Amino acid sequence: MRKKIAAANWKMNLTLEQGEKLIQGILDADVKLEDDREVVVCTPFPYLMAAKEMLKDHAHFFTGAQNCASEKSGAYTGEVSAEMLQSVQTDFVIIGHSERRQYFNETNELLLKKTLLAMEYGLKVIFCCGEPLEIRKENKHEEYVQKQLVETVATLSADQIENIVIAYEPIWAIGTGHTATPQQAQEVHAFIRSHIAKRFGNDVASQMTILYGGSCKPDNAAELFACEDVDGALVGGASLKVNDFTAIIRELVNSKS
Ligand code: 13P
Repeated sequence: MRKKIAAANWKMNLTLEQGEKLIQGILDADVKLEDDREVVVCTPFPYLMAAKEMLKDHAHFFTGAQNCASEKSGAYTGEVSAEMLQSVQTDFVIIGHSERRQYFNETNELLLKKTLLAMEYGLKVIFCCGEPLEIRKENKHEEYVQKQLVETVATLSADQIENIVIAYEPIWAIGTGHTATPQQAQEVHAFIRSHIAKRFGNDVASQMTILYGGSCKPDNAAELFACEDVDGALVGGASLKVNDFTAIIRELVNSKS
């Protein structure tokens, strides 16, 4: 069964109190999620335990971190390891977000190391890919995304790939209000799925959850989720507001399987 996911990426926003209020508001909305729908809340590291405590009795609600270290443990001041995340019952971790690639110089090689460690410690990975505006303008976005996948998740084994959710996040759409059109999103999602099919076979590809990210809002979520290969969203700005994120969860619930 292919899962559909609404994932919140809070990035570096909110205090603990604000974050708890936000989660409580989402829970209070009491949207009924069927077996194939999930909500993942990716908080800053210090809030993961509190978030887990609030979500643990709510089926279909999961916590996620926004990064993890590329080394197992040791003298890496300031880093947070995959094992630490596992020890506070974190379910998911975002790896390869464009902000980390851009501001922290994370390369595909490093991202693969992080991905392998995350999986070793039982975390599911939301692996991000997506092109900058110049590449889109040159119409080379598929090639660009393919390289991001070939050097990372495409090297995994068939067993490992089951723990990966791919998020296509065109950089020009992140935080800009310029959402990709449903056609643009669908085109790249179908391309990603066909790439996964070539590498891992049709069964794996048809089970894979592929999220869209980049200015997903309540008023464009329905048309994005209606696309055959768009299985939900990784939401930044709109995930910080109870009403907006709840509306996006509702659109996910209403979208057909
Ligand atoms: P926005 O929804 O704010 O554009 O952010 C998208 C994103 O980067 C999610 O990871």
